[in-house]
Amino acid sequence: MNLRQEAFSSYRDLRDWLDQVEKLGELKVVRGAHWDLEMGGIAEVVSREAKGVAPALLFDEIADYPRGHRALFCQLDSVRRLALTLNLALDRPDKLSCVRACRDRLGTMQFIPPRPVERGEILENVIAGDEIDLFRFPVPKHHENDGGRYLGTAHCVITRDPDEGWVNLGTYRCMLFGKNSVGLHMSPGRHGRIMRDKFFDRSEPFKVANAMGVDPALFLTSTMAVPAGVSEYEFAGALKGSPIEVLEGPYTKLPIPAHAEIVIEGECIPGETQDEGPFGEWAGYYANNGLAPVREPVVHVKTLLYRNDPILTCAQPARPPGYNFAFCVFRSAMIWDEIEKAGVPDVRGVWCHEAGGSRLFNVISIKQRYPGHSRQAGVIASQCSSGVYIGRYTVVVDDDIDVANLSDVIWAMATRADPERAIEIFRRCRSSSADPAVSPDRKASGSNPDAVFTSKAVIDACWPYEWKDRAYPVVEVGPQLRGQILSKWAREFENIL
Ligand SMILES: Cc1cc2nc3c(=O)[nH]c(=O)nc-3n(C[C@H](O)[C@H](O)[C@H](O)COP(=O)(O)O)c2cc1C
Repeated sequence: MNLRQEAFSSYRDLRDWLDQVEKLGELKVVRGAHWDLEMGGIAEVVSREAKGVAPALLFDEIADYPRGHRALFCQLDSVRRLALTLNLALDRPDKLSCVRACRDRLGTMQFIPPRPVERGEILENVIAGDEIDLFRFPVPKHHENDGGRYLGTAHCVITRDPDEGWVNLGTYRCMLFGKNSVGLHMSPGRHGRIMRDKFFDRSEPFKVANAMGVDPALFLTSTMAVPAGVSEYEFAGALKGSPIEVLEGPYTKLPIPAHAEIVIEGECIPGETQDEGPFGEWAGYYANNGLAPVREPVVHVKTLLYRNDPILTCAQPARPPGYNFAFCVFRSAMIWDEIEKAGVPDVRGVWCHEAGGSRLFNVISIKQRYPGHSRQAGVIASQCSSGVYIGRYTVVVDDDIDVANLSDVIWAMATRADPERAIEIFRRCRSSSADPAVSPDRKASGSNPDAVFTSKAVIDACWPYEWKDRAYPVVEVGPQLRGQILSKWAREFENIL
């Protein structure tokens, strides 16, 4: 199946993308669901339990809201939707082929600056001052234990570095605090957080624009560790091969996506915080502060812009596996790219497993070329920019192991990796307030709740280099015999194999 021929033609914005997803048969419109727990619940059950490909879910006629005020979930959770988003030629739809295709794109792409434009559909409604009311959108409450409704989950928070002037986009959750205020949860080390800290250190307000319903390539890019100094606008443009169109936000003067569905602009005042959360996170827990809120800065919204009949894009993190397919693919490609650029040769595959929330359990396969090669691959993968955020377990396997196949990976670990020889532990590495392995006491202690660490294990599950050429033969039907059996016994097993 050639997905490129079948699926791809260039799309202009989210609506155009949705039209094409519908043609692919991967869009389900759901009418009459409630914003309070029902949309998030449906999305979670569908993404986890669908027989076959889980469709993108477009909710309309949402309880309490007029027809046309829609919410989109499960946007990028399929091979075809990812292929459409990035114009990828995917002849084989398995996970590693997706990673390879993304990696090829990363290797050849040229950054493309955003194109400033004067007009865009985002200007269809521009509201300032007292008229701003964020409750006009069907903002979901995802899970029973969440502390409120979340406006920003599948979105981009746009900020500018006060020293260097570059513009960053990151996905940092935004809880709805009131009709004209939202929270902003940025982990330490995020580029947006570094910018925020610079403003706060100078006692200056921190201006942000928050865009929902952006080009899906821009959303994907905004969730990834694009290097500091490179704007996600340039990166997304490079992935798509065409510039992202932007116009100047009326209040912040930040570039905002001209065809986004909803944009809010505002500012945080240094020292001002409000209770935020709890919010069910990507690792599958309420790990920030259990079921209690944390204090986070408040964004005072000064301008609200939206298209007619706006579509709010949403993501519902929960216990994996679930909503994270595209993040697994793209993070795997980024890690692959980074370790090769750091000089690791003969990488044959990378997969950030869904069960690890695309961050906690990552597997690299290599063709061993020299003593220490496997350790080098593991250490760099666990500390490179795209793997460093918690990145608890990094497993390195030989190239006969399918990195995306958990059974294969566990077989290699259990059979080839003698723990005493194979496991390297690194202490005091990058963690997060979202890390479920850091005790509540540790998070609550001290004056800086963000000062948490994790250890990391690199598990070298390759055959030891010294005797890899005498490794024990694998017990398995060979390819020739397999082929003979399949052709000779095809009819006998036609309903079984
Ligand atoms: C759905 C989703 C929600 C996220 N929410 C947050 C968040 O609330 N806070 C945070 O620091 N990172 C969050 N992230 C991760 C960041 O978006 C990601 O690390 C990104 O690379 C940050 O951008 P930056 O590298 O430019 O800082 C989220 C990611 C996804 C996919």
